Amino acid sequence: MKILVINGPNINMLGIREPGVYGSQSYGELLRLLGIWADELGLEMEHYQSNHEGCLVDKIQEAYGRFDGIVINPAAYTHTSIAILDALKAVGIPAVEVHISDVKAREDFRQISYAGRACVKTIMGQGLDGYRQAMAFLKEYLYH
Ligand code: DQA
Repeated sequence: MKILVINGPNINMLGIREPGVYGSQSYGELLRLLGIWADELGLEMEHYQSNHEGCLVDKIQEAYGRFDGIVINPAAYTHTSIAILDALKAVGIPAVEVHISDVKAREDFRQISYAGRACVKTIMGQGLDGYRQAMAFLKEYLYH
């Protein structure tokens, strides 16, 4: 089972950006953890990060026929991007939306998730562990 983990803008700044909101672990640390968690779950995993909306759309399209599941944190594009929503719907690959912070408890402008409308589940406010929970959920979801 192949899973693609996609991260949107500024996730590469983890550890530097607003540590009170996103924690002190770096993006490199997240990648290390993703590798460990994928191995533990017996999943093949690739990861991708971009600060550019169109690149994220391209990556979702390229996943068609190649990946069984997607874990996606579209970051700020969550709240603005119909293009990412449409790409997820176009490929039809089961996707789980992850947010490191608890977006429901944050600003009004973060209360809409477009991408979430194409996802089978949303995990938020769990810190980096949310990515592990998303991969574990997808494994169960795809097997049953
Ligand atoms: C985020 C929440 C978004 O509102 C924000 O724009 C991000 C990160 C999160 O992981 O908590 O960049 O997706």
